[in-house]
Formats: sequence, structure tokens, C-alpha cells
Amino acid sequence: MKEYYETDVLIIGGGIAGSTAALVLAENGINTTLICKGDDFTETNTHKAQGGIAFLSEGEKPKDFINDIIRSGDNINFLDAVEQVVNDSRKLVKDILIDKIKVPFSMNDGRFALAREAAHSKRRVLNVKDMTGKVVQEHFFGYLKKLKNLKIMFNHTAIDLLAFPHHSKNPSRLYKEPETIGAYVLNQRTKRVLRIFSKKVILATGGLSSIYLHSTNPAGAVGNGIAMAYRAGAQLANLEYVQFHPTSLFHKEADSFLISEAVRGEGARLMNRKGEYFMKKYSPLGDLAPRDEVSRSIYEEMIENGDDYVLLDLKSFAKIDIKERFPTIYDRCLQYGIKIDEVPIPVVPAAHYSCGGVLSDLKGSTSLKNLYAIGEVANTGVHGANRLASVSLLEGLVWGVKSAEHISENIYKEDKPYVVDEVPEWKYPYPQEEIDPALVLQDFIMIKHTMWNYSGIIRTVRRLERAKSDMEYLKHRIGKFYQKTEITNGIIDLRDSVQAALLVVNAALHNNVSKGAHFIKSFDDK
Ligand code: SIN
Repeated sequence: MKEYYETDVLIIGGGIAGSTAALVLAENGINTTLICKGDDFTETNTHKAQGGIAFLSEGEKPKDFINDIIRSGDNINFLDAVEQVVNDSRKLVKDILIDKIKVPFSMNDGRFALAREAAHSKRRVLNVKDMTGKVVQEHFFGYLKKLKNLKIMFNHTAIDLLAFPHHSKNPSRLYKEPETIGAYVLNQRTKRVLRIFSKKVILATGGLSSIYLHSTNPAGAVGNGIAMAYRAGAQLANLEYVQFHPTSLFHKEADSFLISEAVRGEGARLMNRKGEYFMKKYSPLGDLAPRDEVSRSIYEEMIENGDDYVLLDLKSFAKIDIKERFPTIYDRCLQYGIKIDEVPIPVVPAAHYSCGGVLSDLKGSTSLKNLYAIGEVANTGVHGANRLASVSLLEGLVWGVKSAEHISENIYKEDKPYVVDEVPEWKYPYPQEEIDPALVLQDFIMIKHTMWNYSGIIRTVRRLERAKSDMEYLKHRIGKFYQKTEITNGIIDLRDSVQAALLVVNAALHNNVSKGAHFIKSFDDK
């Protein structure tokens, strides 16, 4: 049986970044394959993005938007990247999202109904009510499935990048520049592992927030791309900056459902359970302070009052039709008996976004030849230490286009030798051990609790050191297990989760300066 497959470009991940790159490449006539580990496009962070997509609105000076991004990022952003995301925003939103895939953004009297979110100095967030990401993904999928140069493979999970010299049977590869040539990919249906060979690989696998106990992300957002890039030798950066969204729904069945920041943008205010609106105590910007500050303030209020949650009061302040503006949030809260136009919403912070990732330049190129990283998996420098709300979809869109254009210009310049015979087929363990689900579950629980308690909103050296030794031990144990058992999505996610957790913890331990989303209480606090 043929267990390999060739394509010019392999894209791993189908959120807005991967989808945009796929669209541009396929329309440029490049033979492209996009793989997703989910059954469809719904298991992505893009799909869960409620708020919207920030862009340079009509008549706005780029400087104001740039300043908001940099202030939110605590001044460690890469200016060139911030300028690129802002300067290209208007054109690319129009060309791709509006004109090409026809996203029906909310309008008001013939103009975009722009939302405001925390730390934005003005209303500049395009939205489809509170379901922006979902609608964007549906429109992308509708468009992409008609493109003839694009093959989409759902239920396919990348296990590892194929990288030379590591995966070469030829010892002389050692003397050539390291490069990626594709990936080992699990077909979940056949349970076989394919070698997919490609001239270029684009990682667009999203973030890692689901290595935390409470997370707004889909369960599969466990840092697969970051772990794969690390194992292949690509440079990573800024992984300590894991952003916590201030407001996820506090309810035991709600699975950290996101309560969009646009809710505070429409006037909602945070209060503690004693009924005190507390944000002005922590920041002159009050409830619209940057996310990292709001999350820490909530955390401190909860600790001070011994509470498990705080309240978000929309009904007393909103001047909008709540049900019409936030239909998804309204319905979901109602499911748990919370009528958000009558009572405040119980909320807690939850891990939301990885500001760091695989170091990539203005075109999405990484330090490993032929590997690109775009979207949340990448560290382009746009977000600095703390991402400004609704800039993630925009970054995915802009870098999706930039990487695809760069690849389109260069892909056929280099003659790539045929390599299939040089790369070993996947080695299935023999004899194969049965997976004990209780062991896998316990390992996930340990990772998530450790990250939440020791590497979360407020960190100390002592907590991080404990996390490091626990995660190192677990990585060793999971590594052994991985070699002996049948390869499944669960095992792949477990191995990548522990790797991603260790990378975050090590990055946090190496940085004793509190900035943005990385807050370390005292470096001497042993
Ligand atoms: C939100 O709607 O609050 C999330 C948007 C974002 O993370 O940018």
C-alpha cells in the first residue's frame, strides 16, 4: 500500500491563517493540501472567536491603531510587524473577507456596525454580532471546497514534521542546511501514518491554551505546532506570554464558554460578589483596561474575597438590545438559567491565547528552511507581551496572504530532489500495548492542573520550578508510553501538551521581568 503522498505545499491547520494561505496559494495555481485534525473546520480557535476582526476604519490614522497594539503589548512588540498588520488591514479585509468570501459583517444605517473592545481607543472591530469567527469559517469553507488546486483532508493529524537531517537515512545530509520536507500524518480513520512530502510546509495549528485547566479554546488547542516545530529545531520565542481572557462563563457545565470583551465594550462592568464595581481601583481605564490587567484584577478580587468568580453586569449599563447584539451569549447563558438582560453573569478568567510561538518574519518564514508559521502558532512580534483584542483574526489573515505570496514567488525557483526513499516509513510499535484511558486522562489532568496553579495568571519561581520538575518527569513517562502504544489523536495531543507545557514553564523561568501576560511575583520568592 502506498503510504506517502506528495504536494507542493502542505498546510497544517484550518483556522483563518491556514484557510487564507490555502485560498491564495490555490488561486495562484499552486498544488496545495490542507490537513485538519477535526471532522470539519469547527474545531478551531477561529470558529470560537466571538468578538471580531479589528481593522483600520475609514479615515482613521494608522498611528492610533499601532499605538493601541503596542500599549497593550507592553512595548515589546516588533514595530515592523505591527505596521504591517495595521497598514494591510483595510485592503485585505476588503479583498478577501468582504469581496471574495463575502462575510456579511454587521451593518448599521449602511455603515459597518463597529464594536469597541478593551484597550482599543475607538470602535474599529468588524463583527458578525457575537459569532464572527464561526461565520468567517463557514464562508471560507464554502469558498475553499470549490478550488481545484486545493485538497482538504479532515481527520488527519500531524505527528511530526519531516526534517532533514533528522529523518534522513543518508548520513551526508548532516552537512547540508537543516530543512523541513513535509510531515508524518495520522489518518484517523485508517489508523495509518502517511508521509506527506512537500516543498513547503505552513504551520497554522493555533495555540496551546487547552494545556490549562480553564481555557476558552477547543480541546485540541494543545500546542501541537509549537511542539512539532521545537522537535524539528525551529526557533521559538515569547512562550511565557500566555494571555488569560478575563471573562469566561463560570458554570460547571459551561466549559469556560467565552463572554466576549465586546460585552464590556457595550458598557458592562465587573463587580465582586459584594456588589462593588472594582476595576477603577486597579486601572484608570477601568473595565476597558488591557486584558492582562483585567484578568489579574479579577484574580486578586477573588483571592481577597475568597470567591470562585466575579460578576459581569451588562443589564445595568447596556444601551443596546442585548439579545439582538449578543445572540450566542444570550442563548448559551439562558441554557444555564442566566438571563443576561436581567441578572449579572458569573465569570472567571481562562487561558485564551498564546502571544509567543514559532519565531517567524514578515513573510511567515521561520528559522528552519521551508517551514512557515502563521496565526497563533507563530511569534511574529505583533502582539508583544499581551495581544490587543480582535487582532488575532487580522494577524492570521495578513500572514496567510504574506506567506502564500512569498511561497508562490519562490516555490519553483529551487529544484528539489526526490526524497521519498531517503525517509523511513512510520514505525508501528510491535507488540503494541493497549491504551489505558484512565492513564491518559490522569496525565492530561496533571498537565492542566499544574499549568493552572503553577504557571498561570500569577507566577512565582517556586511554583514554576515545581511545574518544571513535574512536567519533566511526566514527559519522560509519556515518551515511553508513546513508543509502545497505538498512535491516536489522544496520544499525539498528550505528548505535545507536555512538551508545550514545559516550553511555557521554561520560558517563564528564564524571564524575571513581569510584562503583559507574564506576571511573576518576586524572583526571590522561594
Ligand atoms: C472576545 O470576543 O473577547 C475575544 C476576541 C479576542 O480574543 O480577540
